[in-house]
Amino acid sequence: MIDLTHKIAIVTGAGRGMGKGIAEKLASLGAHVIVSDVDETTANQTVNHIKEKGGTAEANVCNVADKEQAERIVADTISQHGKLDILVNNAGINRDNLLHKMSEQDWQQVMDVNINGVFHMMHPAVVHMRDRQEGRIVNISSASWLGNVGQANYAAAKAGVVGLTKTAARELGRRNVTVNAICPGFIDTDMTRGVPDNVWDLMISKIPMGRAGSPEDVANCISFLSSDQANYITGEVINVGGGMVL
Ligand code: NAI
Repeated sequence: MIDLTHKIAIVTGAGRGMGKGIAEKLASLGAHVIVSDVDETTANQTVNHIKEKGGTAEANVCNVADKEQAERIVADTISQHGKLDILVNNAGINRDNLLHKMSEQDWQQVMDVNINGVFHMMHPAVVHMRDRQEGRIVNISSASWLGNVGQANYAAAKAGVVGLTKTAARELGRRNVTVNAICPGFIDTDMTRGVPDNVWDLMISKIPMGRAGSPEDVANCISFLSSDQANYITGEVINVGGGMVL
């Protein structure tokens, strides 16, 4: 049984979709969750949902693309709760287009959020976790890090997340801080609901388990990696995709 009682966790992009599912799962296992999102309204909704189910959580609005905002939320958490045990870097966006049609702006926005945002959050967090000699970081990459048509910006950023994760795992292993990455396959959230029906059907046809994943499917893996039961697992890149990448 996974028990996260007394753990303090930050989940970015937790206002909806996968981040919401992750925040709710960690809270259901006893963690106090800082529900972070650039969108204040949805962050508060997730907090209310957690509280209705008997968990504890608070909202903290943060745009991870902004280094100062990311530093502030980590500092706020440590000053208010004395520590940060778990950091889940989930916030992400897509701006899909074929490479020859991709604008500089679409490239840059995805980089700002999907890779720079992870660095902005990890940088202050690892200073604290190194000193405490304890911590868990889970970064959300994507099956697309291996390359996907129309996602040059997104794939490059998510591949960056894998490199960042493995490097941090090497640097922090002796400090008892684990750093792992999850590669969700095709998960049923607002992000994927935006694709046309024919693309949805094509994606499902590529999944051996024959269905899109749910936010909870991903959250279950993250709760394990955040727990004491995963003490000796670091630097791993775990596919949660119903067999989409084999
Ligand atoms: P979503 O679009 O449903 O939710 C993303 C959340 O992140 C939203 O609440 C949004 O407000 C927040 N957000 C966006 N920009 C932000 C910023 N700059 N700072 C803070 N929060 C920000 O997306 P979904 O599907 O839940 O994706 C979550 C993560 O999983 C993303 O990193 C995405 O790239 C990744 N992913 C999703 C897959 C899927 O099939 N849905 C597959 C593989 C990876």
